[in-house]
Amino acid sequence: MIKINQNYQKLPGSYLFSTIARKVREYEMAHPDKIIIRLGIGDVTIPIAPEIIRVLHQAVDEMGKAETFKGYAPDLGYSFLRKTISEKDFQERGCRIDADEIFISDGAKCDCGNIQEIFSTDCRVAVCDPVYPVYVDSNVMAGRTGDYDMSLGRFRDVIYMPCTGETGFVPQLPEEVPDLIYLCFPNNPTGAVMKKSQLQEWVDYANEKGSVILYDAAYEAYISEEDIPHSIYECSGARTCAIEIRSFSKTAGFTGLRLGFTVIPKNLTADGVRLWDLWARRHGTKYNGAPYIIQRAGEAVYTPEGRRQIEEQISWYMENARIISDGLRSAGYEVSGGINAPYIWLKTPGSMTSWEFFDLLLEEANVVGTPGSGFGPEGEGYFRLTAFGNREKTIEAIRRIRDL
Ligand SMILES: Cc1ncc(COP(=O)(O)O)c(C=O)c1O
Repeated sequence: MIKINQNYQKLPGSYLFSTIARKVREYEMAHPDKIIIRLGIGDVTIPIAPEIIRVLHQAVDEMGKAETFKGYAPDLGYSFLRKTISEKDFQERGCRIDADEIFISDGAKCDCGNIQEIFSTDCRVAVCDPVYPVYVDSNVMAGRTGDYDMSLGRFRDVIYMPCTGETGFVPQLPEEVPDLIYLCFPNNPTGAVMKKSQLQEWVDYANEKGSVILYDAAYEAYISEEDIPHSIYECSGARTCAIEIRSFSKTAGFTGLRLGFTVIPKNLTADGVRLWDLWARRHGTKYNGAPYIIQRAGEAVYTPEGRRQIEEQISWYMENARIISDGLRSAGYEVSGGINAPYIWLKTPGSMTSWEFFDLLLEEANVVGTPGSGFGPEGEGYFRLTAFGNREKTIEAIRRIRDL
């Protein structure tokens, strides 16, 4: 008889966003006259920048001519893109990352989910609480987490690092030493950031203890303040303890085009083996390369015109973030995030749970957000709104919440 991977059975209930979608659908069916504003899921709404579209068209035309047609892309990515990334994202910031230390992929979610494969199933994993669910769920599927404890809302063998209001929503160095440490800054869902000195402590800790940091920098383009590192490789010693994962999704609106990358320094080893070699082997075996036209579009993000246009888009989203934060704050809400990240993290009023507040907003204000408890037990009593909405709808949503 065929047996399944029983680890999948350990994953609790339905996925957060499907529960939200179901609740919204039910409400819409019962109240077809209501106009609902969605500030829940973190998807972009501004179309791809014109310069990127121009380059995409050009690349599409190349595919139609025998002289310029491209078949399979190199497994690890085209060198034009790897070189551009290494120069613009890293070397210009003083980080020593070479083009061949960059692995192009079709997005950060896959890389965040797949990277655990190159480590033993015995490895102890540490995650922030609240957390972007992919880090935990991919380790559950691999059998690294033990069973789910319903009463705690946690997996037994995972080290959870609480990120609370008292700590500015950044984790403290764990007492129990993990093998793998997932960090995401600027953070989804809280919008919190780490200063360079704080991240340096993690790098020092990882090097001292022999842990590997898996650093998700999907939102680095939203950093507006000084002294916030865009890359973990801005910290000294990071080349021997950190893997960084990045995405073009929120930087340049590629959620539908799909492009991301992972950085593995060649001198990063574990168990006496270079992790670069393992990931190259994994990529070569299971992945056939991101499409040529999308990699060309990615390259256009770094041209002066492309960069100017995406910076405009990011500023536009961050103006939404300001409208949400200021509006909520003046209505008496306790709000954080929204300065270096497109996420606003607010404390639910009184002793309301995250889901109670979700229901209140849906039913009374017809606004959809994301309950903080969906990201982990420490998210209980919090709520996430995103800055990716349309401007008028964002303003209207805040007016409705203020009028509650
Ligand atoms: C923290 C974080 N990492 C990764 C991703 C996924 O990015 P991509 O669209 O490149 O798969 C997201 C998307 O929401 C995210 O919030």
